[in-house]
Amino acid sequence: MDFNDEQGTLFDNIDNQPNDNRPKVFIETYGCQMNVNDSEVIASILRANGYAITNDIENADVILVNTCSIRENAETRVWGRLDVFKQIKKRKPAVLIGVLGCMAERLKDQLLEDQKVVDLVVGPDAYRELPVLLRSAEEGQKGINVLLSREETYGDISPVRLDKNGVSAFVSIMRGCNNMCAYCVVPYVRGAERSRDPRTIIREVQELIDAGYREVTLLGQNVDSYHWKHEGFLHHKLYTNFSDLLEMVAKLSPKLRIRFSTSHPKDLNNDVLYTMAMYENICNHIHLPVQSGSSRILELMNRGYTREYYMGRVKAIRDIIPDCAISTDVIAGFCTETELDHDLTLTLMEWAKFDFAFMFKYSERPNTKAARKLKDDVTEDIKSRRLTEIIELQGKLSEKSKQSEIGKSFEVLIEGESKKSSNDFYGRTSQNKVVVFPRENYNIGDYVLVKISDCTPATMIGKIVEE
Ligand code: SAH
Ligand code: SF4
Ligand code: F3S
Repeated sequence: MDFNDEQGTLFDNIDNQPNDNRPKVFIETYGCQMNVNDSEVIASILRANGYAITNDIENADVILVNTCSIRENAETRVWGRLDVFKQIKKRKPAVLIGVLGCMAERLKDQLLEDQKVVDLVVGPDAYRELPVLLRSAEEGQKGINVLLSREETYGDISPVRLDKNGVSAFVSIMRGCNNMCAYCVVPYVRGAERSRDPRTIIREVQELIDAGYREVTLLGQNVDSYHWKHEGFLHHKLYTNFSDLLEMVAKLSPKLRIRFSTSHPKDLNNDVLYTMAMYENICNHIHLPVQSGSSRILELMNRGYTREYYMGRVKAIRDIIPDCAISTDVIAGFCTETELDHDLTLTLMEWAKFDFAFMFKYSERPNTKAARKLKDDVTEDIKSRRLTEIIELQGKLSEKSKQSEIGKSFEVLIEGESKKSSNDFYGRTSQNKVVVFPRENYNIGDYVLVKISDCTPATMIGKIVEE
């Protein structure tokens, strides 16, 4: 899954009608794609309750920050933003400041007490309460709701899309996580895993197709454990699992691309791979976080697989879907990691030839199993050096992955104008590799066949060869 620890994501799709006298809400989002999708749900709830969405912080009546706790620096960044909001509140005391999401869940009322700048604290399962909490905050009553739920999936809410491109959208298919990886805060801040009713997923995807969308990314912390039990259908299949769901979504329209994230190596099964192979419109890309190449470290991390098991999954992907791209997440310097463990990570990366990776230094999170039971004993210097080696190796692998496509042609979905030149478009191949090419007479949202002629470290460069 994509991340954003550094800079908040803002809404592009704002309400900017003249003379709009609804109170204006500014929403800034950190963290993973699920958090971005949550902000879209929040915007939908607030719009339905008489608020307008703005991306101009100076004119906002309400400032909300949807936060992430995954690493310490994700939280540090938000504390820095609260200082900035504090200055705004000094100038405009009526402005309401809310902290939402994973950090709200982790720190709870501590956020209300610290600095006295925050008016409301709302956890990931309590967004339906936002309008009520905002109303009482307007009357001077600080609001907090951090209850986690076993049922909430916001399944009935159609999110207000954050961007205006109208081509690709996120659809959350489940919430929470039951995995308890030793380093990870997600199960504590997002609660238990629960899947969303497939009928509401299909309805949302159909609405997106009707609105002209061409790509959906199905989101969950562990999509392979998606599971919905149907009630009352005695003669029908009683369960929908992830490969069933993928197939249902793929059948809605051959023109709709389907992506998904994240696959957990211990749960990725061959049914899903066969379904991917069977439907052209399910993209050939799997994000399969490995975390470490050492079975000893994987065991300490409580990941539920070994190095060999992971390699077996990669082999199965390559056998069943020969042109499938594989990306990963890697953590450098987990508790007790030795040079040998680190080398095992590097050799596994080289063996798997990952097309792309998110790479992190281990960051101890309070109250996780690792924080309680293990010592964060790899020094900062060693963590940094190992991370650098991992990043350098992945740089080479990513470049090779792009170079190997030179001379080939791919179907590309046009997603937008290239940042560097308005004469160029950018889009992605099924394998999730970005291509930049001259726009000719095509439009955003079109599928085109692009022949790759060259690449830079970040993107492939090509030319449209035919429709
Ligand atoms: N559910 C997904 C990942 C969610 S968190 C999965 O299981 O793969 C995204 C990534 O952040 C993880 O894959 C991991 O690489 C990284 N991460 C999580 N906790 C971390 C921590 N405490 N320190 C450093 N990186 C961490
Ligand atoms: Fe965290 Fe593990 Fe769950 Fe992923 S699977 S969210 S890493 S506990
Ligand atoms: Fe996502 Fe960060 Fe929460 S990665 S689930 S926003 S802790």
